[in-house]
Amino acid sequence: MMNEIERRRTFAIIAHPDAGKTSLTEKLLLFGGQIQVAGAVKSNKIKKTATSDWMDIEKQRGISVTTSVMEFDYNDYKINILDTPGHQDFAEDTYRTLTAVDSVIIVVDGAKGVETQTRKLMEVCRMRNTPVIIFVNKMDREGKDPFDLLDELEAELKIQVRPLSWPINQGQRFKGVYNIYEQNLNLFTPDKQKVTEKVEVDINSNQLEEHVGTADAEKLRTDLELIDGVYPEFDVQEYLDGKTAPVFFGSALNNFGVKELLDCFVQIAPSPRPTKAEERVVMPEEPKFSGFIFKITANIDPNHRSCIAFCKVCSGKFVRNAPYLHVRQGKTLRFSSPTQFMAQKKSTIEEAYPGDIIGLPDNGTFKIGDTLTEGEVMHFRGLPSFSPEMFKYIENADPMKTKQLNKGIEQLMDEGVAQLFVNQFNGRKIIGTVGQLQFEVIQYRLENEYNAKCRWEPVSLYKACWIESDDPQQLEAFKKRKYQYMAKDREGRDVFLADSGYVLQMAQADFEHIKFHFTSEF
Ligand code: G4P
Repeated sequence: MMNEIERRRTFAIIAHPDAGKTSLTEKLLLFGGQIQVAGAVKSNKIKKTATSDWMDIEKQRGISVTTSVMEFDYNDYKINILDTPGHQDFAEDTYRTLTAVDSVIIVVDGAKGVETQTRKLMEVCRMRNTPVIIFVNKMDREGKDPFDLLDELEAELKIQVRPLSWPINQGQRFKGVYNIYEQNLNLFTPDKQKVTEKVEVDINSNQLEEHVGTADAEKLRTDLELIDGVYPEFDVQEYLDGKTAPVFFGSALNNFGVKELLDCFVQIAPSPRPTKAEERVVMPEEPKFSGFIFKITANIDPNHRSCIAFCKVCSGKFVRNAPYLHVRQGKTLRFSSPTQFMAQKKSTIEEAYPGDIIGLPDNGTFKIGDTLTEGEVMHFRGLPSFSPEMFKYIENADPMKTKQLNKGIEQLMDEGVAQLFVNQFNGRKIIGTVGQLQFEVIQYRLENEYNAKCRWEPVSLYKACWIESDDPQQLEAFKKRKYQYMAKDREGRDVFLADSGYVLQMAQADFEHIKFHFTSEF
């Protein structure tokens, strides 16, 4: 059991769209033997197996909407990569996926540096002290000076960095990467079919000049001296505590610097970590199984309508057909066909260990955040849902299909596609999302999966705030004053829908005993 736990590495690759997440994922799959063609990243065939374009809508729009899991063995390690949607309108999905990983690799475009999406995702990692490794990609292109880039990473991502590899020049003149961690040199061959050449070089001998030329050799020596002077020695514990991020340089497209990243990653990245439940902290090595649902996705197989709930195993051994307690419903369930994933392929498994992600067929039994145990009543803590950025009234566009519409809305909200608020004044339903695209996804899925039609009507809102107070009188007074703007979320909690930043500020000033929260636990 300990051995199974210790060999697992469950992580996500996160990046701003276009930084190279797909290319990097594909290279990792290549090393894991999941795909066979070296370097042919742009072949559609590989793209199909490596990415997870499960939903129709995703194919139509060319956006990775759903989050999938890819598993493979590498040396003695079992790697679970949780894929995240590339489009920022689905950021909420990515936030939730980050609750199920033990560490993260962030891909940054060497020319563009830190971009908005990277910054936001890093905030979520920081909230959970998730260990982070940074891969600076596209070194085969002209980009920023690596030292400037390190400063930018530190300032923008608010984390200490420590380079573990160092680029020798870049763009047209990119010669390779010096692996600081292993102290050897990787020479770059701009050829996608060839894996890089690794050379053992004493960088203080003139062997270095022979390989990279005098100017670059001199520069490398000075750079390395500077690195040692400026950055403290790499400390694995600091990385595990989420305080320091080791940085690697390379080119995912050319499969350069990726193996170095992977080899170091498996050595230093954490195996499954303890998970916090409301009642207690759960250790992975505990004998009894426990896990939580962090993602529900529909239509993995377009021929079947049922959903798949993704469960992260937190402790013990999950066994097929064993009875497990669905804590929220107080029901015992048995799973006869739990699955593991490899993009579109999935196969039934007999057992799973902490760190693994299992797919459980679901017909509306699960909600995001649900806990499964061997009988103990406990609740894993989810990531809070954030106040949506966009709001619309959802209206029924086909009165004959009211039932279908309501069922569809309920299930899509269970999946965490968006958030639903019911205005207490007029009883109208308001859907809140983080991006415009989600409204389109909801409309499309209601039509295609539930045979229901909806219509959107504008509502001008700024933020949804969950409110609470120790002063019941003031709370009542507030609700009375703002009765047109009071809503309930799906858990029946009071939510104040502020229509402008100004109104919110005034409310905060007038009602000082009321707490306005911009996030809520699931
Ligand atoms: P994403 O999943 O993070 O969105 O990024 P993806 O890997 O799809 O890469 C985005 C673009 O960047 C792709 O180009 C890809 O070929 C390119 N790219 C990725 N890694 C590298 C690299 O190391 N060096 C260089 N020069 N380019 C890289 P595209 O134009 O969108 O696609 P295509 O026209 O190449 O098919």
